[in-house]
Amino acid sequence: MREFSGKTAVVTGAASGMGLAFARRFAAEGMNVVLADIEQEALDAQVQQLQQEERNVLGVIVNTMRRETLEDLRERTIERFGNIHILCNNAGVASLEDTMGLPAG
Ligand SMILES: NC(=O)c1ccc[n+]([C@@H]2O[C@H](COP(=O)([O-])OP(=O)(O)OC[C@H]3O[C@@H](n4cnc5c(N)ncnc54)[C@H](O)[C@@H]3O)[C@@H](O)[C@H]2O)c1
Repeated sequence: MREFSGKTAVVTGAASGMGLAFARRFAAEGMNVVLADIEQEALDAQVQQLQQEERNVLGVIVNTMRRETLEDLRERTIERFGNIHILCNNAGVASLEDTMGLPAG
């Protein structure tokens, strides 16, 4: 994928650490970014910060161990941004690809 601007990235575990770094980098490329995390307070703070920087972001609470929250993540992403171009399975505790309707790997 050569052009990132306007495309959509979903990052799990995005409220801190490596996931947040991925999310911030994708946003800096002009991507829509869905930050998904289990920690409401940390997620809200990071989403608010990115919005203040005029990034196009959405925060969604997920627990990657719970499939129904991943289905909600997929639905809310499609509803807001229409598609998923990058899935960054950073929280790494469940097989996300199948639930998100994407090929593994
Ligand atoms: N930091 C390292 O040195 C290192 C080394 C090798 C692998 N990893 C792996 O890389 C990934 C990110 O590392 P990190 O150090 O940034 O992780 P971290 O422990 O800082 O967690 C990152 C985020 O994931 C969220 N999270 C935890 N469980 C979750 C769940 N079930 N559902 C949704 N979100 C959840 C946390 O709230 C946190 O905001 C992890 O999968 C980790 O195992 C990290």
